Amino acid sequence: MKIIAGNWKMNGTRANLIDMVTALQKVDTENNVILCVPYTMLGVKSDRNISLGAQDVSAHDHGAYTGEVSASMIADSGAKYVIVGHSERRQYHNETNDTVRQKAAAALSAGLTPIICVGETMEEKQAGKTMEIIESGVRESIPNDIDKNIIVAYEPRWAIGAGLTPTSEEIAEAHKLIADTLTAMGLSGTPVLYGASVKGSNAAEIMSIENVDGVLVGGASLKPDDFIPIITSVK
Ligand code: 13P
Repeated sequence: MKIIAGNWKMNGTRANLIDMVTALQKVDTENNVILCVPYTMLGVKSDRNISLGAQDVSAHDHGAYTGEVSASMIADSGAKYVIVGHSERRQYHNETNDTVRQKAAAALSAGLTPIICVGETMEEKQAGKTMEIIESGVRESIPNDIDKNIIVAYEPRWAIGAGLTPTSEEIAEAHKLIADTLTAMGLSGTPVLYGASVKGSNAAEIMSIENVDGVLVGGASLKPDDFIPIITSVK
């Protein structure tokens, strides 16, 4: 069983999501399928095989924070997951590992599973800092003293939306480091997803790499014709 999560980013309509859910209901799979969609689409009815998630959450529970949405509100919509620390939040909203940890803690306290993203920029990669950024991302973005109700996603930031993917060796090395770091933190068994330019043609190969428990898919999660082949590429 793998986790196949879609991140719609700022795309789509409720009608698109209803079409996707209708198409996915016909797919015979034991994989755990998650769709992380804009807030306005949460609450669209999905069946038990497809869970919805948000793409960001406030670190605050309620109050005078205009424009923010809290974890308890996301849970109230029926969603089960929330992405935190996506590279686009880190890049465009200056989110740091500290911010991400607070948001993940807020998600956990409302009973949501945070999908905590880490990954290096091209600059960091070129400076030979990939492993350092990944390890500090994992150590600093995950709240202390928690149960295992989290998912980690490794998203090499330079490869997102670029049609680029790291080599299988690079993915294996990053995921081994993440798995080892999680074990050292008492969180062994935490699922770790790979995300960046995943598509039907590379999904099976990526998910056959050790310590890759699933994928987080951007562009190729928007249309059933692109997303379903990813879901059915693995048992
Ligand atoms: P792409 O699959 O479009 O590269 O996006 C990856 C991503 O950012 C998923 O969160």
